[in-house]
Amino acid sequence: LHMKGRGSLSKCLQKVDTFLHRTIGTNVVAVKEEREGCKSLYGVQAERQEQAERSVLISCHSRTNEKNFLKYLSRHGDINKYFFYESYGMYAVVEFANRESLASLLEEAAIPSTSHESMVPFKSRLLTLRNLGSADVPNQQSGQQCQPQTTIPINELIQRLAREETIEQQITSLTDVYQLTEENSRLRFLVCSLLKDIAAAYFPECTINPFGSSVNGFGKLGCDLDMFLDVDDISGRNAKMPKSGLWLEYQMKRASSERAVTQSLLSVIGDCVDQFGPGCVGVQKILNARCPLVRFAHQPSGFQCDLTANNRVAMKSTELLYLYGELDPRVRHLVFTVRCWARAHGITSSIPGAWITNFSLTVMVLFFLQRRSPPIIPTLDHLRDLADPRDKSVIEGNDCTFVSDFSKIQLLSNTETLEKLLCEFFEFYSTFAFNRMSISIRKGKEQNKPEVAPLHIQNPFETSLNVSKNVNATQLDRFVALCQESSWLLQQSDTNTPRGGNAEKATTPWGLATLLMPSQVAGIKGRKKRRREPASERIKSLLESLKNTNQHKKS
Ligand code: CTP
Ligand code: MG
Repeated sequence: LHMKGRGSLSKCLQKVDTFLHRTIGTNVVAVKEEREGCKSLYGVQAERQEQAERSVLISCHSRTNEKNFLKYLSRHGDINKYFFYESYGMYAVVEFANRESLASLLEEAAIPSTSHESMVPFKSRLLTLRNLGSADVPNQQSGQQCQPQTTIPINELIQRLAREETIEQQITSLTDVYQLTEENSRLRFLVCSLLKDIAAAYFPECTINPFGSSVNGFGKLGCDLDMFLDVDDISGRNAKMPKSGLWLEYQMKRASSERAVTQSLLSVIGDCVDQFGPGCVGVQKILNARCPLVRFAHQPSGFQCDLTANNRVAMKSTELLYLYGELDPRVRHLVFTVRCWARAHGITSSIPGAWITNFSLTVMVLFFLQRRSPPIIPTLDHLRDLADPRDKSVIEGNDCTFVSDFSKIQLLSNTETLEKLLCEFFEFYSTFAFNRMSISIRKGKEQNKPEVAPLHIQNPFETSLNVSKNVNATQLDRFVALCQESSWLLQQSDTNTPRGGNAEKATTPWGLATLLMPSQVAGIKGRKKRRREPASERIKSLLESLKNTNQHKKS
């Protein structure tokens, strides 16, 4: 009806179709079918890795003539895909159809020559397009169409959300804007592949895989690139010993512990990255952390990179988060929304400290979805019970087994809307007994806290660990106060309905947009004693008292 007189019938139908797609629960069968067609994370990774190995990253002039550029490269073979983007200058990612084409291109590339500097003779797939003379006629327009690799600023997002017609649409729109694009995901795998070429100088059989938010389905454009250097195939963990007879084994240096091996591996690779890795700057070796890592910036991609090794449990938790995100579209929508909300209010931060991390927040959303009635996603124990023998995985004594075949997972038909879930999420954590209870997605039920920590979230696989050990009472209090405020705001009719006419709508935030605006309670310090009245009442009086204090101050 909104479209009446404004567009064709087909446009209108398209809108209805999108709406139905977004209105989760109306089409449980379709969701299930989609799930059966899902690719496992390993399937996705293998495909992306293979693409990355056939790709190059080329720095080029912003007015490079696209046609000439492609013609020049195609002399080496067919190009499957290419795109341009900007990061400290313009770059192109080019994927060839065959590896031979890439080899031919690299063979032809020249070594730079300068009179005042010496080159570190390490050749990689990071190249520069040079142009001598008039061979290249620049594009007449302002340059290439660039694929964005970062997301829009929060103020722009708020404006954009204000123009949506329902909270449901605001939530899906936020996900659309924030999630990694196809191109960004390719770039992440390409950077891993470039890094692998460096590590392969020492360990030819190693792999470098992205993990964490780059691949778990919850990554936001601009998030860091977590990488995992895997040398398992080399260390022979998978080799089968004969029962009798002769065999040969490698002579290998021994170290006092796995940790010591990881540290020396990362130390050497860190040096290589620092000294030979083109485009890798600000390399820091953080080898004494619980999980040793090498941190650096990869300038051509603009990614902040964390390289770890022997971090197979994190790989498993990435796989688990990916699975949960694929089970029901509401999972990703809610995680994106809560992560964005948390960032807008400084609950999460890019600086390490006592803040809640995105990983902790994600686990909190998953736990909340397990606590719905009926639950939207199953518990980790249930996923373990559905596992095949081939899914069995024990890493350093931790049982990391869970089902890999998505179609074995039966979901219950919970039809709650995203709007309702968002509101309930805030209500749930407004009243959660953080002082006594621990959050466990393994059990899907709150557990008694095993140790004193303001916020206790059980690590899904290393169950004796607390994922949010770093969080202090102040940060937890801020989280709770903001949950209370947001829950209250969402219950107010002037928040949860779009404002007036079109012109006004464009500038007056409502619904989710209001929740992302600066808070009135963010500065609250110290935990308030819990009262029995509903959260909405508590927050109302809290806001009243704040208003009064401000008035006193002013007067
Ligand atoms: N991880 C974990 N236990 C922790 C912290 C992290 O198992 N206590 C694993 C998770 O799989 C997580 C990954 O390490 O996804 C990367 O951690 P981090 O970069 O902190 O989180 P991301 O999920 O990548 O989120 P962000 O976008 O903030 O980087
Ligand atoms: Mg990360």
